[in-house]
Amino acid sequence: MSDTATARRLRFEIFRYNPEDEDSVPHTDVFELEETPFMTLYIALSQIREKQDPGLQFDFACRSAICGSCAMMVNGRPALACRTLTADLPESIQLYPLPTFKLIGDLSVDTGTWFREMAEKTEAWIHERLPFDPDATEERMSDDVAAAIYEGDRCIECGCCVASCGLANVDDTFLAGAGLNRVARFMMDPRDSRSDAEWFDIVAGDQGVFACIGMMACEDVCPKELPLLEVYAYLRRRTLGARFVAKSDRAV
Ligand code: SF4
Ligand code: FES
Repeated sequence: MSDTATARRLRFEIFRYNPEDEDSVPHTDVFELEETPFMTLYIALSQIREKQDPGLQFDFACRSAICGSCAMMVNGRPALACRTLTADLPESIQLYPLPTFKLIGDLSVDTGTWFREMAEKTEAWIHERLPFDPDATEERMSDDVAAAIYEGDRCIECGCCVASCGLANVDDTFLAGAGLNRVARFMMDPRDSRSDAEWFDIVAGDQGVFACIGMMACEDVCPKELPLLEVYAYLRRRTLGARFVAKSDRAV
């Protein structure tokens, strides 16, 4: 937007509901404000809260696409409010909380419980091969393996991929993009002692990678552009390989 251009008047239709208040009824409220250069949805929401409705609930922490707190449905698509420029949206903007997660109020949801349950279910921590030895020399890892692990670790747990997933929307046990990405990160890690057969048990059931019906919205909406489809292919290759080995072992 140039300085000489006439500023747009933006119209926000925002979901409102407080599940803690028995008198609260789900509805939308409409707010209007004048667009300013480089306005993000986070800035617009902050202005609405400061000047029009101090009770409006939404989450944020970093304001720079790092903490993953500000994800919400923006005109029907999951996105980070702090990273979305209003200039990239039409004048009429609908904001809803992410589905799948427990609603705290208005646009604020509890992603933490979902991510904690996913981490416990998949035991998303290193299962060490060797007992801890403070005097041992640090183990070496190839650059390629380290880069692949760090790529998976770029997930900011915003929940956009989960919210965009048709299966996760009807089955809250499905690991979805974030969960499967987390599994792959530990599966790649040479310090983790779990065998492919053990990984098979984690990702092959109804909650895992073979339940994915391939709608691919997860990768489209991921604000960190994680290659989730490559992650699923990796998981399928590794776990199917384990299953074939187990079967051929039994046949011998
Ligand atoms: Fe967000 Fe991407 Fe991580 Fe999913 S994989 S939680 S969309 S950063
Ligand atoms: Fe941290 Fe948007 S406020 S990701």
